[in-house]
Amino acid sequence: TSTTTIHPSILNCDFMQIGSELDRINNAEAAHIDIMDQHFVPNMTFGVSMVEQIAKRSPIPLDAHLMIDSPDRDAVAYAEAGAQSVTFHVEASSAPVRLARELRAKGVKAGVALRPATPVEPLMDILGEFDMLLVMTVEPGFGGQSFIESMLPKVRRARKAISERNLEVSIQVDGGISRTTIESAAEAGANVFVAGSAVYKAPDAAAEIDALRALARA
Ligand code: DX5
Ligand code: ZN
Repeated sequence: TSTTTIHPSILNCDFMQIGSELDRINNAEAAHIDIMDQHFVPNMTFGVSMVEQIAKRSPIPLDAHLMIDSPDRDAVAYAEAGAQSVTFHVEASSAPVRLARELRAKGVKAGVALRPATPVEPLMDILGEFDMLLVMTVEPGFGGQSFIESMLPKVRRARKAISERNLEVSIQVDGGISRTTIESAAEAGANVFVAGSAVYKAPDAAAEIDALRALARA
């Protein structure tokens, strides 16, 4: 019984107009903030102090997606910066359960993310430690890439495991989500949808968010 929500990614928005770019998506449930360190992924975005400023200005909660090499050391700082949920990559953490507990102790939701080549099976017994599982549907690093359809069985297996264990864990999909792909991801069991280019390239971002949500809930 998790709710279906749309989290636009501001990765490809106009950073010179960050305030009004956030206002364009104020009907979304959260704004997805991609943190990249140029080590875990070949791209660099924002750090803690920018997230702090964005959190103060944003009309909606922030969902931070950390694509960084050092989540064990740095993830908690993003919780303190004002993100409502913090998702780190399992490939980069040496103690994902400890980190999830540290994040939850800060009062934020803890998410764990999987690159396309990372299987979900090793996480099956610890899924309850997280509020959200992020199944990447592109290789992390850039917006505007095409949806990797072969990730759908992973979403399906994760959803099955979550239901069988009666857990309250959201499944987020991120990468290449659009009107063309969102229904298949929803059908497989995802309930939180990140959309970057689909939303920010639309002339009316708020209308695009509503259209995506309607498709996902159908
Ligand atoms: C990619 C990021 C995504 C990206 C999605 O590494 O994690 O959040 O912004 O952008 P689209 O929706 O354009 O694929
Ligand atoms: Zn992301």
